[in-house]
Amino acid sequence: MKNIAVMISGGGTNLQSLIDHQADGTLGGRLRYVVSNRKNAFGLVRAAQAGIENDFLSVADYESEEAYFDEIAHRFEQRKIDLIVLAGFLKVLPESFTRRFRGRIINIHPSLIPSYSGVGFYGRKVHEAVVADKAKVTGATVHFVDEGCDTGPIILQSEVPVFPEDDPDSVQARVLIVEHQLLPLAVKKICDGEVALDERGQIQWNKKEH
Ligand code: GRF
Repeated sequence: MKNIAVMISGGGTNLQSLIDHQADGTLGGRLRYVVSNRKNAFGLVRAAQAGIENDFLSVADYESEEAYFDEIAHRFEQRKIDLIVLAGFLKVLPESFTRRFRGRIINIHPSLIPSYSGVGFYGRKVHEAVVADKAKVTGATVHFVDEGCDTGPIILQSEVPVFPEDDPDSVQARVLIVEHQLLPLAVKKICDGEVALDERGQIQWNKKEH
């Protein structure tokens, strides 16, 4: 069974969804470790309640960002992590880290990438832009992480309607419901070997064996 690490910065509702799917036996992997770069992230409480080893690691305690991510990488390797899930982790990963775990890092983004993605589009800002544009559709995307910002190959996407009376909070709430289905599904597909990145960095879908 694949060992999964989850990186968070906040409330961790996506982490909770992974925990719930693991409890149901529908995750396909084992949640082994949770790391937060913010001390008060409620996701750390969720991890502890689920009995998952978890750590708050502050970049301020390291001499450089690279040293910080080297420490995280070291901890992941010690724990034989196979898959790293970014679930609301609000720090850009350095290239050294993404290269080290090439094809083994995924991210959930609250829009239909490439719309409302890239530098500056994170958290509520994404939904504010959707409402400001009077967009009729938004959604969620799970993708492999490469060296760019929200640019890696897309694994799954799901649309969410936007209504004229929506505000950023109502859009966010509707998108989160979809995120909570999409992320565990993507994790399962990776754990089952249904999807992977090949050596050229392209998505490969493999037929499921029954
Ligand atoms: C989610 O909207 C996710 O798509 C984005 O950050 C948010 C995290 O929410 N990357 P939560 O901490 O999982 O509740």
